[in-house]
Amino acid sequence: MSLSWLRIQTATCALLSFATALELPEYVGLKTSLQNNILEITLHNPNSPINVWNLDTQDGLADIVAKLQQDNETKVVIFKSDVPRYFMGHLDLTTPNLTETWPTSVDVIYNISTLPQVTIGAVEGRARGAGNELLSALDMRFATKTDVLFGQPEVASGLIPGGGGSQFLPGLIGRGRAMEYILSSKDITASEAEKIGWINKAFETSTEMYEYIDVLTERLRLFPLLALRDAKVSINRRYAPSREDLLADVAAFAVRFRDPIVQTLQEKGQALAQNVSDFEIELNLGENVLGLYA
Ligand SMILES: *[C@@H]1O[C@H](CO)[C@@H](O)[C@H](O)[C@H]1NC(C)=O
Ligand SMILES: *[C@@H]1O[C@H](CO)[C@@H](O)[C@H](O)[C@H]1NC(C)=O
Ligand SMILES: *[C@@H]1O[C@H](CO)[C@@H](O)[C@H](O)[C@H]1NC(C)=O
Ligand SMILES: *[C@@H]1O[C@H](CO)[C@@H](O)[C@H](O)[C@H]1NC(C)=O
Repeated sequence: MSLSWLRIQTATCALLSFATALELPEYVGLKTSLQNNILEITLHNPNSPINVWNLDTQDGLADIVAKLQQDNETKVVIFKSDVPRYFMGHLDLTTPNLTETWPTSVDVIYNISTLPQVTIGAVEGRARGAGNELLSALDMRFATKTDVLFGQPEVASGLIPGGGGSQFLPGLIGRGRAMEYILSSKDITASEAEKIGWINKAFETSTEMYEYIDVLTERLRLFPLLALRDAKVSINRRYAPSREDLLADVAAFAVRFRDPIVQTLQEKGQALAQNVSDFEIELNLGENVLGLYA
């Protein structure tokens, strides 16, 4: 946080009689914008063309969440991405000491699922693995129809969705469909995802999606935060996992991660990707994971 940033922030607060309590620094990997008690978080990992979840994502979101937990003015939080074709790829599996740091990431995802504010995902591009886990932990999901795919590709890599994917998805699409998509590691399009409840609604264009979200948030921000919060608590009590549920997945993920088959499959993946970029491979990851077994 630079001094000039502080000066601008102070000057802005002095000018506005309705200055908000929420003050956010600059983050690596996330952009934020706050207007009329609506916070927009743009997922933007500057070091990853597929917008992976890494420690910057974890630290930035943990800081924002800690502030939102104390904030009594922000009513709605919208998650989006400005990385072309990727809302968010999966967890960065090359993160050092992954099994030690991942539990904190999952705690952040749990904390996001229990925020007092209403959380909304606006998806353009692909949301897979941790990207889809973050998304399914939110209260609502909207997406455009073109060039959008969702998936939990972990099982094909010898892993399991360790960040709550196998906890949140059954609540959205039911046990049988969660089994189908998680066990097969296949992708789903936005139109299909809309039909089965993976997302709330799919739109022809980005403009239509944001118009719909704007109308909805204009309503939501009229209502008392404590009423929004308590209604969420009630819905989540039955349909969202507890912290203990998620920690059990974290432990199971760590066991899978140490299985030698995972290393073998990762090496096979790297060999397949030798002459193709991650960006290309990941566009149709649900299909391309079958290459690991060819
Ligand atoms: C999650 O929220 C709790 C407070 O409810 C806090 O103690 C914990 O540190 C948070 N976790 C992370 C990783 O930020
Ligand atoms: C929000 O919290 C602050 C500090 O805790 C308090 O001064 C303020 O009155 C609260 N505002 C509302 C609308 O509850
Ligand atoms: C990984 O963990 C080990 C042992 O806890 C520590 O010494 C090392 O600095 C860590 N590496 C990174 C890159 O955080
Ligand atoms: C990648 O390209 C090199 C040289 O162009 C070639 O020898 C190699 O067979 C290619 N590998 C794959 C997996 O296609």
